[in-house]
Amino acid sequence: MITANELRQKYLDFFKSKGHTIIPSASLIPENDPTVLFTTAGMHPLVPYLLGEKHPGGKRLVSCQKCIRTGDIDEVGDDVHLTFFEMLGNWSLGDYWKEDAIKWSFEFLTKDLGLSKDKIAISCFVGEKENNIEKDEESAKLWQEQGIPKERIVFLGRSDNWWGPAGQTGPCGPDTEMFYWSGKEFAPKVFNPQDKHWVEIWNDVFMQYNKTIDGKYEPLKQKNVDTGMGLERTLAVLNGKESVYDTELFLPIINEIEKLSNKKYNTQQKEFRIIADHIKAVVFIIGDPRGIKPSNIGQGYVVRRLIRRAIRYGRLVGIKDDLVVPIAEVVISSFKDIYPELQQNKKFIVDELKIEEKKFALTLEKGLKKFNEYIKIYWNKKLMEKVLPGRVTFDLYQSYGFPFEMTKEIAKEKGLKVHIEDFERKLKEHQEASRTASAGKFKGGLADNSEIVVKYHTATHLLHKALRDVLGEHVSQKGSNLTAERLRFDFSHPQKMTPDEIAKVEKIVNEKIKEDLPVHFEMLSVEEAKKKGAMSLFEEKYAKLGNKVKVYFIGDYSAEICGGPHVEHTGQIGKFKIIKEEAVSAGVRRIKAIVA
Ligand code: SER
Repeated sequence: MITANELRQKYLDFFKSKGHTIIPSASLIPENDPTVLFTTAGMHPLVPYLLGEKHPGGKRLVSCQKCIRTGDIDEVGDDVHLTFFEMLGNWSLGDYWKEDAIKWSFEFLTKDLGLSKDKIAISCFVGEKENNIEKDEESAKLWQEQGIPKERIVFLGRSDNWWGPAGQTGPCGPDTEMFYWSGKEFAPKVFNPQDKHWVEIWNDVFMQYNKTIDGKYEPLKQKNVDTGMGLERTLAVLNGKESVYDTELFLPIINEIEKLSNKKYNTQQKEFRIIADHIKAVVFIIGDPRGIKPSNIGQGYVVRRLIRRAIRYGRLVGIKDDLVVPIAEVVISSFKDIYPELQQNKKFIVDELKIEEKKFALTLEKGLKKFNEYIKIYWNKKLMEKVLPGRVTFDLYQSYGFPFEMTKEIAKEKGLKVHIEDFERKLKEHQEASRTASAGKFKGGLADNSEIVVKYHTATHLLHKALRDVLGEHVSQKGSNLTAERLRFDFSHPQKMTPDEIAKVEKIVNEKIKEDLPVHFEMLSVEEAKKKGAMSLFEEKYAKLGNKVKVYFIGDYSAEICGGPHVEHTGQIGKFKIIKEEAVSAGVRRIKAIVA
């Protein structure tokens, strides 16, 4: 048996002995990255350094990073998927490369963790002609040199053996993944990645590309190694457990749910796991140094959904009373030694959870009343089948926070059916409408639409484009804030701008103002917007929806996805002047400018 503490410590110590500096876990809420809600990997806080910025810890780093991934929510409750997890990782920032990375991964697994070489299997990148990326024979050869037989090495494509970028653009590359046999019988000679007994435990990414906004892969200035080992999965494998939920990282939480529900874990395993996962995740998000409360937007909405889902699953296992706080207290006491912020923020966590649980209990009550009214109406209708239309089930969802599955179950009890496609259609319409609205809000979130602020808004677009012209295509917006007195614009750039660069940017913006360029917008699909070179942070999900976005054009100089409003022609802006250029954080600069 190995404990979680021992595993964390062994990992950090091993890489320390190989010249790595131990760095603390960064916040779960990414700083200066509006494209993602949460830190999803250990590499995420290191993006500027992977792009070439110098890290104070040197070129070799190691950490245990708190991560949140919400994309797998439907899989949470199986043996391996989690919303919150801890990732052990080591990095080479333009220092060692494949040979050392693979050698050390193998050494750590087999010597320090004592895993059997005969139960390890490997996947490598198969290559991609269209992007000029080679098959990773080099890694496969290095694994063979460590003693992994050929039959245990497979080559797979992009969906398996390519990592990143974390957002739309940034560092990425092929990876090689390590799997461990978790089955009771002997491990098969030939590695079949479809067999679920092969559990993926570690990933070495060879980050040598930067994906640009136009989808190209440019070689990075430096070749980096980025690795990630899931703490929970590895702990399960090491201790012969079938699931991450059967490790000490979950057992105290599961025990508490058994107590509260008076039921055994194995009678409703999936429900128990979902409750445990969701409450653990919200404790870490609310208790983060940059903690987030439940709300209706952004990260806060994720917190709210997780809490409500946990409560609903709590009802399904028969917990009638409050459950969130008692379970949260167990999470806090289990993890406070490693993550002292949970103890420091305990009052905040508990208070917020209490408020949210009460609020949901109230809406549940009100919603049930409304539900009963609907039931009467639909029972009295002389229809062949008693079916609740999407209009009704969506109203319960939208106005009373009723998860659809719950509506379905209650309806069934009352002898009614629900119209599933109708509900899904309504939900989709609503999501598309709110995505379009929030995409607009993201860029055009103007509290004040006064004439002067509108001028600053258009000036910001000119500035953004001029910065790219002068400094390069790596410049992307990290934040923007406008008042009637000034504009403030944060953007990615690795070093201080020189006085000459500042003068050049100022000159371009003033020229574009003098040219009195017309400003207009068009509603385009995301694809068309990209084709027209519109600047934006194209989140993958957002792009897939294929809904229309508003693109503002300034003459043919700039195109940017934005909600507006803007001046009609640039001559209205006046004279533009940069008054300050400073650092916000590593890799992010801030400009303050005025117009007069
Ligand atoms: N970024 C890679 C991952 O998340 C390795 O750290 O798996």
